[in-house]
Amino acid sequence: MVEGVLPKPDLPVAQPLPASLADFAGPARAVLPPDVWDYVDGGSGAETTLAANRRALDRVAVLPRVLRGVHTPRTGARLLGASYAMPVAVAPMAYQRLVHPDGELALAAAARAADVPYVASTLSSVSIEQIAQTGATVWFQLYWLRDRGLVADLLERAHAAGCTALTVTVDVPILGPRRRDVRNAFAIPPQVVAANLPAGRDGLAHTATPGVSAIAAHTGEVFAPALTWADLEWLRGRTALPLVVKGVLDARDAELAVAAGADAVVVSNHGGRQLDGAPATATILPEVVAAVADRCEVLLDSGVRDGVDVLRALALGARGVLVGRPMLWALAAGGEAGARTALALLAGEFRDALALAGCADPEAARELRVIREG
Ligand code: FNR
Ligand code: LAC
Repeated sequence: MVEGVLPKPDLPVAQPLPASLADFAGPARAVLPPDVWDYVDGGSGAETTLAANRRALDRVAVLPRVLRGVHTPRTGARLLGASYAMPVAVAPMAYQRLVHPDGELALAAAARAADVPYVASTLSSVSIEQIAQTGATVWFQLYWLRDRGLVADLLERAHAAGCTALTVTVDVPILGPRRRDVRNAFAIPPQVVAANLPAGRDGLAHTATPGVSAIAAHTGEVFAPALTWADLEWLRGRTALPLVVKGVLDARDAELAVAAGADAVVVSNHGGRQLDGAPATATILPEVVAAVADRCEVLLDSGVRDGVDVLRALALGARGVLVGRPMLWALAAGGEAGARTALALLAGEFRDALALAGCADPEAARELRVIREG
């Protein structure tokens, strides 16, 4: 007698394990409301700079060295005078409770576990004091508010909370026009607040208006317009912490940042979210590195997605990188555990990239040759 074929039991299909940061994008998209996904994923204008960031990194070909006796490279690196497990920091990103209820607390805890700095946005949805309590190394990111008293308060709070660096973001004189957010009339849900601002100062961020990004409306209301280098000097005079100027693309501005006392600049186009048509960061980085000539550290962000991208940035002359969206994908998909996995993957990929390039450590990667393909 022929046995009947049994129907397959209805077992849950095991999700494939993530093998790279990109593997978190699909699961994140599946769990996020479409307008939140668009806010995170989107860029400004026609999103040409957003696409260019990736294209430019892909075109950077790194020439590996051989027969240098390297088997297990050291990934550790110094940034702003402190040692970390790798030359990577978690980029400042606003309102992280939009993507997961644990928000900033989960991402900071993951950064702590990975021994990398966590950059806390002024627009965090958890207060800077609570973020610091995770024990992570926290760099505070300042958005300059119209009310200078509030800026002074934020600085005092960042110092008191034990932040070890101050990052001032200079590429947001206005928020870049994010067409997806305009189409979606994107607004922040009421339970996600700008926890560092005085209560109620984020009202506009929650006000959905057809044809308007509520984030653009809110930042337009609270961010100081028309900042100058004199403001940066004021800031330099108010903090002994290392000062990082984030959002520099023109080498002349990098020189001005050095003159104003910056300890680092971040070559960034805000992940393609500010001036659409600005160059990809991998394209312009070497000019900035040459202009700065080791007078301050040069970091890069915008489009970094794996360990080879970290190697590329170093080979182009950067000291380290910031990683943005992939950390929100991992947070959305898996909370703190997801973010820990993402950073562990990145560390492993970077170690492999160093080994394959014949580099004993990140310092050696800065001596590699690169060519642009295509
Ligand atoms: C950002 N970015 C950002 N930058 C900043 O200085 N303060 C902030 O509050 C925010 N907020 C923010 C929110 C979201 C959802 C994103 C995607 C980005 C910019 C961020 O720090 C970084 O420059 C880019 O994200 C880097 O590009 P990738 O890695 O996302 O491609
Ligand atoms: C953004 C801000 C708030 O890019 O920096 O959305």
